[in-house]
Amino acid sequence: MQIRTETINDYKHVFNLNYLAFEKRDDEAKLVEHIRFSNCFIRELSLVAEEQGKIVGHVLFSKAKIIRENEETDVLVLAPIAVNPTFQKRGIGSNLIRAGLRRAKDLGYGLVFLIGHPNYYPKFGFQSARNHGMELTQFEVPDDVFMVCELKDGELARISGELHYPASFFI
Ligand SMILES: CC(C)(COP(=O)(O)OP(=O)(O)OC[C@H]1O[C@@H](n2cnc3c(N)ncnc32)[C@H](O)[C@@H]1OP(=O)(O)O)[C@@H](O)C(=O)NCCC(=O)NCCS
Repeated sequence: MQIRTETINDYKHVFNLNYLAFEKRDDEAKLVEHIRFSNCFIRELSLVAEEQGKIVGHVLFSKAKIIRENEETDVLVLAPIAVNPTFQKRGIGSNLIRAGLRRAKDLGYGLVFLIGHPNYYPKFGFQSARNHGMELTQFEVPDDVFMVCELKDGELARISGELHYPASFFI
């Protein structure tokens, strides 16, 4: 299995993959399209997992902001992540997340947020964001599913405020 940056040729396969993984709902597949054509898209942080020439997984990290009074900090949000149902539970999702977090760190980002399953993400370093003075009002979610991963030591102590997902999430 190879993890690499998504290319234009992958777009239709990534759409189908998201459609399949999210139980034949196209909301997430369309979300990926909206993000790609927005200024919160980071090409190097749209990753695909390929096995024998077939796209079996995809993860997208995009630009978001933490806002506190007049201060804004650039952060990332992870969404969506999808693995072809036939290929799930083989570590592909984990590999995509770890590869994405490494790239995000290399690009200089200090914090990555997500809304996700509290049993799955802690092993990658995600923890409850509200315990670290982060807020989220755009989505109504319980504390344990709103999570943050610190990529740069000290970022969680230095930064607090409200997470703002980019406009693409609300089209
Ligand atoms: C969430 C999702 C991306 C996870 O992908 P995945 O490739 O199945 O994830 P992994 O294989 O890394 O991990 C899944 C489980 O398989 C286990 N696993 C990992 N490698 C394994 C292997 N080689 N053999 C057997 N099990 C393995 C992991 O321990 C993990 O167990 P856990 O449930 O206790 O955490 C996938 O289930 C999916 O696409 N779901 C639908 C879309 C969705 O809900 N996305 C998340 C919201 S955006």
